[in-house]
Amino acid sequence: MRNPFAPGAGQRPPELAGRDKEVSAFEVVLERVARGRPERSLVLTGLRGVGKTVLLGELRSMAVKRGWGAGKVEARPDADLRRPLSAALHRAIRDLAVRHRAPDRVEAILGILKAFALRAAPDGAKLRDRWQPGIDVPAAQGRADSGDIEIDLVELFTDVAELAQDVGTGVALLIDEMQDLKPDDISALCAACHELSQLGAPLVVVGAGLPHLPAVLSASKSYSERLFRYVRIDRLSREDADRAVLAPVEREDAASRTRRWTRCSTRRVVIRTSSRPTARPPGTPRRPIRSPRWTSPWPLPRPTRSWPWASSAPDTSVRRPLNASISGRWPS
Ligand SMILES: Nc1ncnc2c1ncn2[C@@H]1O[C@H](COP(=O)(O)OP(=O)(O)O)[C@@H](O)[C@H]1O
Ligand SMILES: [Mg+2]
Repeated sequence: MRNPFAPGAGQRPPELAGRDKEVSAFEVVLERVARGRPERSLVLTGLRGVGKTVLLGELRSMAVKRGWGAGKVEARPDADLRRPLSAALHRAIRDLAVRHRAPDRVEAILGILKAFALRAAPDGAKLRDRWQPGIDVPAAQGRADSGDIEIDLVELFTDVAELAQDVGTGVALLIDEMQDLKPDDISALCAACHELSQLGAPLVVVGAGLPHLPAVLSASKSYSERLFRYVRIDRLSREDADRAVLAPVEREDAASRTRRWTRCSTRRVVIRTSSRPTARPPGTPRRPIRSPRWTSPWPLPRPTRSWPWASSAPDTSVRRPLNASISGRWPS
């Protein structure tokens, strides 16, 4: 019950260690974009388990704290971008609606979002197969509903960014596992970001993905290198790894346990996890995480013939080894 840690992929750790550089880079992005200055979006890349999802969550909270609208998408292989993107932008618009003074304007943008979302169903799909986006206003017509994802994204992003501009903030769209987006969606997303940055609209897309994500983006649009700033997320330094392990323990139990959790004991954690998100100290060998142990068929019956001091033959009907192929070696 008193375990201060939060195990699990994407769970916010009790102590977000070693990400100060990335956090302050994003602060600069938020500040500049809100002032209409040109700024490149961030793309976080790194191996699985280094802490990209957690950092993306942190960046989202930073945006929300500043009054921005923020929404997060988790891309899935072979899944269309429209549905998850509509849900994320719906969330962002709701964040902004709280501060917006003109409800009819918010409703107008929601209508455009609904029109965009309804395009997720193929033409001619039956009513029961159509996805209902859960937006409580009638769908608008003639905006973001062309069916061409590139045109629709530019129109939708521009309108949502204008809504944020009304309240003096912006919109942050966070896309996790970005490498899994379909090529058409990636290309449209890059084109929309390009257009928005030229307009100076306050909308930033922050992506996160595996190390080959920059190559995926470049293959889609050659200008993507100038559109995004790639930030490599790596293992934590030894000091940060210590902090990630020790700080939550110290907070939980300032007296007795802390004395037992020293830098020495964190070393074991650091080595066992080898790199995710903690670091292996330089020079120490990488220890493989062991596969589940082979379970011995213990208790085995005692071989009475070769061990004359055994007083009586054991009851092997209960203690016979599970592995039939070796059971013949034992007296029956
Ligand atoms: N900076 C950090 N400090 C402490 N723990 C972290 C940090 N970054 C990630 N973690 C922990 O590592 C685990 C994996 O993080 P996650 O964000 O899911 O990795 P990724 O998305 O890169 O696969 C999570 O349990 C998370 O709580
Ligand atoms: Mg992740």
